[in-house]
Amino acid sequence: MRRLLPSLLLLAFPTFLTAQAPYVPPTDTAVAAKLERWKDLKFGLLMHWGPYSQWGVVESWSICPEDEDWCRRKPEHGATYNEYVKNYEALQTTFDPVKFNPDTWAKAAKDAGMKYVVFTTKHHDGFCMFDTKLTDYRVTDPKCPFHDDPRANLAKGVFDAFRAEGLWTGAYFSKPDWHSPYYWWPYFPPKDRNVNYLPTRYPERWQQFKDFTSGQIEELMTGYGPMDILWLDGGQVRPLNTIDTNVSWQKAILIDQDIDMASIAAMARKHQPGLLVVDRTVGGEYENYVTPEGHVPDADLGVPWETCLPMGTSWSWVPNEKYKSTDEIIRTLVSVVSRGGSLLLNVAPGPDGQLDSTAYVRLKEVGEWLKVNGEAVYGTRALPCEDPKVIGGTGVYRGTKSDRKSTAYLFLEPEASGEIRLPWWAFREVKTASLLASGKPLPVRLEKIDFVIHLPRPQPKRNAGLMVVKVEYWPLNSPRF
Ligand code: GLC
Repeated sequence: MRRLLPSLLLLAFPTFLTAQAPYVPPTDTAVAAKLERWKDLKFGLLMHWGPYSQWGVVESWSICPEDEDWCRRKPEHGATYNEYVKNYEALQTTFDPVKFNPDTWAKAAKDAGMKYVVFTTKHHDGFCMFDTKLTDYRVTDPKCPFHDDPRANLAKGVFDAFRAEGLWTGAYFSKPDWHSPYYWWPYFPPKDRNVNYLPTRYPERWQQFKDFTSGQIEELMTGYGPMDILWLDGGQVRPLNTIDTNVSWQKAILIDQDIDMASIAAMARKHQPGLLVVDRTVGGEYENYVTPEGHVPDADLGVPWETCLPMGTSWSWVPNEKYKSTDEIIRTLVSVVSRGGSLLLNVAPGPDGQLDSTAYVRLKEVGEWLKVNGEAVYGTRALPCEDPKVIGGTGVYRGTKSDRKSTAYLFLEPEASGEIRLPWWAFREVKTASLLASGKPLPVRLEKIDFVIHLPRPQPKRNAGLMVVKVEYWPLNSPRF
């Protein structure tokens, strides 16, 4: 019994990691209800797209002086910084995505089993992929060759198409805007990602920035149909007292950049009741879920969370992109959901408005696996004892449990065979076990303190991904007990 104690404690108090900044659960009941429904969706599509795709370079960052080391500017794009920025911004005058067809994207995403989309309406470079009235640095301005195309309001086309396929819609919006004279005032040179003047010394200018930001968000919350998520990137735009000094890029923020999120959120929710607001990395009441980036956390974060990852190596479209394999995508999704999170997988359109054909293949194959095994993914919550050693047995990968029934789903290597041992103290009584893909029942026997599930001989490998064993059990707090 003494040997079991640490594991028992693990079950009683799952090892939740604290989020970087304190998480505040929503008090607005419409938001709280929507967040619960969002937690069931599990799998979404992130899309980074802008005129930068014509150069096949990283989104926005090459115009930020601070970041020259990791996104080196190509000499042919400008000999000096100023020349480079001029040429970068002139990409507006050649952006002509004539093959833009969001219906194809939406169908592919739906078929992949994705349940929501988050689309870059404006990235840090400030270029608007929607029909804003507040700047001419937008796709619908006459300078842009695509402006008179009926599909020119790209964000609208994307949101309408995905909504028509039954997916939720989320607007990625960068709070910092490196084109706006209210954020990077041309009077001063930009130094890094932050505002380049002191808002306390020039409060009128900062007020103009606040009005501009709020105005653009209001446009997005009024002209684009029902919106589910406002995904705000650029965590340097935040009150100074919210900075987490353990994070290097936050430590470098020296200027208070409070844009009054309380007013922005209230305005947005007046138009879109229940809207989820994701003020990334800031913490507090306007970050309804947290968004680790580029990696899967080691354990359940204990608060609603979503990992965003690119399907390839870059958020933006780059030539000859190397996409992750279908198997890797499925395993990533399984790791994420078995820790209670959601996966927001990024795919980037190219300059003509098309996705690479490999991206379509991956989406299709992930969808094939999810069609068979989706029950183990959607609407599930983390199984506290996801550690294979706690569950016991060979080849057990990770588990999720259904939120509403006492059902556990165990993910196994496709070639797993032999037995799985589920400890009595965790499962109380195993009722049935079966292979999720075929429904084939699996024999269960009680052996000392373990329920032992006997696996069939290795299955012929159908496609990429993992095998799922479904276990129905009486939980510890079962009324039978
Ligand atoms: C990183 C990138 C940014 C991108 C974001 C997506 O912060 O720097 O460009 O939009 O990830 O999560």
